Amino acid sequence: MNVLTPLVEPDEAAQSAPLRPEALRVVGQPLPHDSAVKHVCGEAVYIDDMPEPRELLHAYVRLSAHAHARIRRLDVAPALASPGVAAVLKAADIPGVNDVGPAFPGDPIFADGLVEYVGQSLFAVAGDSIALARQAALRAVVEYEVLPAVLSIDAALEQKFFVLPTQVMTNGDSVAALASAAHRLQGRIEVGGQDHFYLEGQIALAVPGEDDDMLVYSSTQHPTEVQHLVARSLKRPDHAVICETRRMGGGFGGKESQASLIAVVAALLAAKTRRPVKLRLDRDDDMQLTGKRHDFRIDWDVGFDRNGRIQGIEFMLAGRCGMSPDLSGAINDRAMFHSDNAYYLPNVTIVSHRCKTHTVSNTAFRGFGGPQGMMGIEAVMDAIARHLLLDPLLVRTRNFYGKTDRNVTPYHMTVEDNIAPELVAELARTSEYAKRRREVAAFNAASPWIKRGISLTPVKFGISFTLLHMNQAGALVHVYTDGSVQLNHGGTEMGQGLFLKVAQVVAEEFGIGVERVKITATTTEKVPNTSPTAASSGSDLNGKAAQAAARTIRARIAKVIAGEFGVEPEEIAFRDGEVRGGGRSLPFADAVKHAYRARVSLSSTGYYATPKLHYDTKLHRGRPFFYFAYGASVSEVEVDTLTGEYRLRRVDILHDVGASLNPAIDLGQIEGGFVQGMGWLTTEELWWDSQGRLRTHAPSTYKIPAVGDVPVDFRTSIWKRGRNRENAIYRSKAVGEPPLMHGISVFHALRDAVGACGDGLVELDSPATPERVLFAITKRRAAADHLAEAAE
Ligand code: MTE
Ligand code: HPA
Ligand code: MOS
Repeated sequence: MNVLTPLVEPDEAAQSAPLRPEALRVVGQPLPHDSAVKHVCGEAVYIDDMPEPRELLHAYVRLSAHAHARIRRLDVAPALASPGVAAVLKAADIPGVNDVGPAFPGDPIFADGLVEYVGQSLFAVAGDSIALARQAALRAVVEYEVLPAVLSIDAALEQKFFVLPTQVMTNGDSVAALASAAHRLQGRIEVGGQDHFYLEGQIALAVPGEDDDMLVYSSTQHPTEVQHLVARSLKRPDHAVICETRRMGGGFGGKESQASLIAVVAALLAAKTRRPVKLRLDRDDDMQLTGKRHDFRIDWDVGFDRNGRIQGIEFMLAGRCGMSPDLSGAINDRAMFHSDNAYYLPNVTIVSHRCKTHTVSNTAFRGFGGPQGMMGIEAVMDAIARHLLLDPLLVRTRNFYGKTDRNVTPYHMTVEDNIAPELVAELARTSEYAKRRREVAAFNAASPWIKRGISLTPVKFGISFTLLHMNQAGALVHVYTDGSVQLNHGGTEMGQGLFLKVAQVVAEEFGIGVERVKITATTTEKVPNTSPTAASSGSDLNGKAAQAAARTIRARIAKVIAGEFGVEPEEIAFRDGEVRGGGRSLPFADAVKHAYRARVSLSSTGYYATPKLHYDTKLHRGRPFFYFAYGASVSEVEVDTLTGEYRLRRVDILHDVGASLNPAIDLGQIEGGFVQGMGWLTTEELWWDSQGRLRTHAPSTYKIPAVGDVPVDFRTSIWKRGRNRENAIYRSKAVGEPPLMHGISVFHALRDAVGACGDGLVELDSPATPERVLFAITKRRAAADHLAEAAE
């Protein structure tokens, strides 16, 4: 199987589609992405593909050269005098607020006297071409007074230099449990960051209108926030600004908050020049100016019994937030929420420091802190297993949450939907884990330099925004008199297939084919006050909102037709393109015309708010999640222990998407998420030099997985018994982020192979580049040699 061609044959998809009521016609079908053909033919319109408006200007942003410095002098006169320049804009020229912080202030549009990272925006130029704007921007004179910079998590911890206050989550008595446990181990793991590397970089096009109105096309996951921040920076009301997003060429969290700066700069320049302005960041600039996944240091201290069951545990999580809070509060919270992964932690204390450094402000990235939290507990599982000489899978399963007891999380939420035990048992069976573990051991015994490793790791991921009020959505549905339907909602499309899934839901309600539902661009004009498309909640939230809108219209049509057919409205069914009742039927389009002539509105909004959620943010107790998504994966690797290079031999994934809305889309999300997670933990290395300059800011030095890195033997399945016990849209489950965490099994397979080179604990941080793997092996072999010498 190839990750780049996730489309499945209808038969295969039907097999892997979970059981669902016969009645469903469109929901649950493995339909290809609505833009699939356009994507591969280059016909899908991204912002840079749009016809350029007359008098368009191109913007360029000048970036800071120092990590922490006072700006002594900023002379933009040479830039203004440069050929083809229409305007230069700096902090003092902003009519409104010079800040685009999403939750807290701290993200200036342009540095105002102080810079806090290499790559921070200083000012922008609008010119006749990108080249001319860039040339001009580089001519401005900037003089700095360099200040001492805090560049590492360790330095920030030492100085207690934080962007937000430290948080503590606790359940039971970890101190007493650690003191009385039969076994106790301590350790540390460092987990690296990750660049989003969306194919389409950050971009916006701002078009000024009459009355100082502004229309902004933005590649953003959060059009409402772009609208609001553009308005605030221009000192205009929200109603004067429209933000439209047809699609992104990938977002992955990188466009949840950090698309705003790009849109705001374009809009400010457009307002100043009264001409349209496009800002498209060059890849190198994008990688330096915009934030990434938080890297973490995790210290752990665990007490356990002789069977490997945890008695008590303490975590110290230190996340690198960079120079501002951005979304780091919620991201570090989510790291705490996933420090348990799928395991019951009876006596637990989790301390979370939100470290400030003079580096770019880190942001949302698929999993939103959850993957980092899981890396901590999985390192603990591995350490316990190696200490007790047990198979790590045995230790993992012994620590799983129970069904009726041992089922309360560190944040005091009861896990009601735990399917990890049976899902993992099924994957262990289908992947022949036990047999292959024996084969790996036999291979390693006979092979001194090439070593193999295998690992099975589970995933349990909490679904909902942890910020309560974000769990809401709106939709707008129009039915036209020819029976065609126009659909709009607050969710954005970034390749994940959200637009298609929501269209399937609407088609199902009206009993028509999905081709009769027009998918339209997200715009703040049609649905206001939306949440970002994030937290994997896009289809849960917008699917329900669109369903509500469609049901309102359907009920109105049903009433009219029921009158004509002489039956009760409840007896009217919408199926197979017809409206039926009492033995009579009408084509859907005719029924719509009848309703129109009866003077019935064929347009409706819909709204949804997730039920059951509550959370005490001070005590860190409550129910932050509507439900959990589950999955597990097995990876097998082969390592050349003389060079550290490795190969992925085989990967098996079993993933729970509830009752799938679209198994073809879901398989694509599972495979793609896994590969992205594998890249995070293996080859993608962010490297800053001693002056805080990112030296891996292009594909030449920053290595994302390519086609050749996908496992040769790649077996992905949707869990057939999947069904959401909560009333989520058609009993499906969110799928966007959880599969990324299957990459953890690759990391642990590598640890397993390193473990085959000696005894005792394995010390390996992520990303496990060949270099790091080689160091870990060398260290272990040296320790083994040392022991052997001592014994002689
Ligand atoms: N899939 C593609 N192809 N491109 C993306 O940018 N983003 C991921 C995930 N899958 C992403 C993706 C992230 S970070 C999230 S939160 C979800 O999609 C958002 O979409 P959803 O809520 O509709 O699943
Ligand atoms: N996920 C993604 N984005 C968010 C969240 C979350 O849990 N909370 C606030 N913004
Ligand atoms: Mo996804 S990190 O929640 O945008």
